[in-house]
Amino acid sequence: MEVVIFKNADNVASRGAGLVAEMLNVKPDAVFGFATGSTPIDLYRNLVARHRKGELSFRHTTSFNLDEYMGIAADNPQSYRTFMNREFFDHVDIDKNKTHLPACESSENPQLVGPEYEAKIEQVGGIDLQILGIGYNGHIGFNEPSSSLSSRTRVKTLTRRTLEDNSRMFTDGEFQPKLAITMGIGTIMEARRILLLATGKSKANAVAAMVEGPLTAMCPASVLQMHERVTVLIDEQAADGLIYREYYDLAHRENRALKKRFGEFYASG
Ligand code: GLP
Repeated sequence: MEVVIFKNADNVASRGAGLVAEMLNVKPDAVFGFATGSTPIDLYRNLVARHRKGELSFRHTTSFNLDEYMGIAADNPQSYRTFMNREFFDHVDIDKNKTHLPACESSENPQLVGPEYEAKIEQVGGIDLQILGIGYNGHIGFNEPSSSLSSRTRVKTLTRRTLEDNSRMFTDGEFQPKLAITMGIGTIMEARRILLLATGKSKANAVAAMVEGPLTAMCPASVLQMHERVTVLIDEQAADGLIYREYYDLAHRENRALKKRFGEFYASG
């Protein structure tokens, strides 16, 4: 993994947006995998600002979100569709018909929705750049600890911890789904490039387990150790538990120098 440590969350967002911009430069019709949660919000804001300045366009892109709550309608204020519209899609020139979430309304059979979602990803040639956050328990998407490391898009029951963490997004008495449909870990691993963002002290344990812990389904993000092109962008607080921190800084400086001379190949960890 390429681990890049920044002073603060703003720097993480702006480097993340920079990598999205680089991808758009090389491939204006790139296929993106987008994530929800509070962490990528600043990245989306940064991209919106760049778009408003005329620096980048999403006109030719396609996107697939990681996950969606089960049984809530797209126009529900708590749906991840609403989140993506509000935080990003409404403010850029992306064609909403080419933005996808694994939505499953109550009348739909989730066992069909998962494979259909996978087929759509395959039809457009797979995901070029997948953006990820990480849960406090090491989940990616909604792949909770004990998820199969080769899982595909399917229904997951959320852990009590995840429900508690995410309850901050719901008002008292508002329905909080206990199930979600999420891209599987196997699905995520097929993205050609992965960008994981984590900020704040509360993510330090999960980040340490992901980067330096054993490869285990108990920390689903640790499977990223098996991916060839993962960039982990974190702030100093989220880097707090890393033993090899100094080495990552050194490797990043060396990679940057090589990248300048030989191009993007050296950017990966
Ligand atoms: C949610 C999402 C994940 C996200 C994680 C962390 O449960 N399904 O995709 O990465 O929680 O969210 P946050 O960035 O708000 O800490």
